[in-house]
Amino acid sequence: MARIPDAFIDDLIARTDIVELIGSRVPLKRAGREHQGLCPFHDERTPSFTVSPTKQFYHCFGCGAHGSALRFLMEFERLEFLDAVEELARRAGMEVPRETRSRNEDGHLRRMYDTLAAASRWYVAQLASHATAQQYFKRRGIDAATCERFSLGYAPEGFDGLKNALGHDADALRLLESSGMLAKSDGGHVYDRFRERVMFPIHDRRGRPIAFGGRVLGKTTADGREAGPKYLNSPETPLFHKGRELYGLWQVRQAHSKIPRLIVVEGYMDVVALFQYGVTTAVATLGTATTPEHAELLFRNAADVFFCFDGDAAGRRAAWKALESVLPRMKDGRQAAFLFLPDGEDPDSLVRKEGSAGFEARLAQAEPLSEFFFREQGADINLHTLDGRARLAEHCKPLLEKIPDGAFRDLMFQRLSELTGLAASPHAATIPPPVPPAAARRHSNNTPRRSLVRQIITLLLHNPALGLRVEPPYAFAALRLPGIELLIEVLDLIHASPSLRTGGLLEHFAGREEADALGKLALIDIPGEAPIWQQELDDAIVQLITQTRQQRIEELKAQSPLSAAEKNELRELLLARVD
Ligand code: UTP
Ligand code: MN
Repeated sequence: MARIPDAFIDDLIARTDIVELIGSRVPLKRAGREHQGLCPFHDERTPSFTVSPTKQFYHCFGCGAHGSALRFLMEFERLEFLDAVEELARRAGMEVPRETRSRNEDGHLRRMYDTLAAASRWYVAQLASHATAQQYFKRRGIDAATCERFSLGYAPEGFDGLKNALGHDADALRLLESSGMLAKSDGGHVYDRFRERVMFPIHDRRGRPIAFGGRVLGKTTADGREAGPKYLNSPETPLFHKGRELYGLWQVRQAHSKIPRLIVVEGYMDVVALFQYGVTTAVATLGTATTPEHAELLFRNAADVFFCFDGDAAGRRAAWKALESVLPRMKDGRQAAFLFLPDGEDPDSLVRKEGSAGFEARLAQAEPLSEFFFREQGADINLHTLDGRARLAEHCKPLLEKIPDGAFRDLMFQRLSELTGLAASPHAATIPPPVPPAAARRHSNNTPRRSLVRQIITLLLHNPALGLRVEPPYAFAALRLPGIELLIEVLDLIHASPSLRTGGLLEHFAGREEADALGKLALIDIPGEAPIWQQELDDAIVQLITQTRQQRIEELKAQSPLSAAEKNELRELLLARVD
């Protein structure tokens, strides 16, 4: 999301009074330098939710929720990033600068959006003038209002309808091609990708078409060759990554100011038909498994998510994939459930037969995540044997570890110990056991556990201004230690925005793999006061530099023959080590 300059976000967070922002939504009491209250993100009776005005950061010691003022608005009000930025800017009386960076690139992207919007309008116009396509929707029970709501359209037969309508010049043709609307033959000839298909535009979170799905009009031939695949999707483009988009989300958001729950289905027609029959909260993944990004997007929009799958083996595999994406996001207050459909049915056919009431009744019977989890995990295990129970525990534990701290996690561990009869120690549920070696190794690529680098990053997170004294070029940049690159990134951010505090700094890492680990470091209690920390930081940096030199010395020693320059370098390094 490079549309708003980072510096503006930094400034926005710095200017927002986080205590006032959160305090107007959650009752807070002053406690020393911080403010405390009952966490709005999970159920609790004693306050473990803390807001720090100096760090411009909130954190819940119960469920682990944390972040900046911006993050709070996104989570609490379920706002999208841009909307949360707008809201904060409005409060601060600032104007959101848009598209000020890299004009060329933004210009190109904007023209791609325009091209796709024009294509969508063209397909809609074609639908109006092609009776066969209209009849197709009619036959499937889709009325004009629903067609309009989803901007359904028609790509007529022929290889250059769209190409001729929009491709006025070489530039326009290139845009059509880069936005996926044209395909290219081996001989280099470009032609309409979508032909003789009803068209489903895929909208982004702001309602702009970014891609299309097209369905063949009649039936496919048995081998599917003549008409091509039943559904054809746009290729991935700079605007369209199918693992990140959910078909129908825009329409659902338009229909609800607060989305009560989301239903995830497989197909375009399922979403549209459910809507037509009054079930207005369905979205579809686009011919892919449910990715972690999908899961994130789903829960950002609704606390309850229902997944619908076929009842067959493939459906169960797909459901398990969805479960794996969802587990790490099961914060308290969120719910996921799985609905397996009868043989040969999909949500489209069911809602047609049973109406919305029938479909709702099925949803009410959906299997909660916890049940599906233990049923699947226990499927091939004999729980009557000790051995089987041990196996179950062994399989489940690493998965359950992924659930964020909170009551749900505790309950899942409790259920596991009931099933296995193996007493989980009272802390087993809340205190993660030692990290297994493989995970630890993966971790150490970006976030060191107990190291010098970790100590430095912790100090910087607590008080970013300390980093202003460590100026680039960093003498330790070449050091091969886990976390060095992250450290340099943090320092660069601090130099770029000297007013950054903890919350703002963390915001830069939002959505990245490092975010959780950094959030945890930001919480570590570090003793003392600023002057001591500065000394600590300076000392640690000196140590890093010493290690970098040592690393170079060893490199040179291991190398032979050395050039004259290298010999010189080695001599100087060795001398420097003495004093
Ligand atoms: P289905 O074949 O189950 O389609 O594929 P459907 O939604 O029931 O379609 P109708 O009812 O016959 O119109 C489900 C989804 O899988 C993807 C599409 O996203 C589709 O909606 N798919 C399917 C493809 O991408 N390509 C295909 O050839 C088939
Ligand atoms: Mn169908």
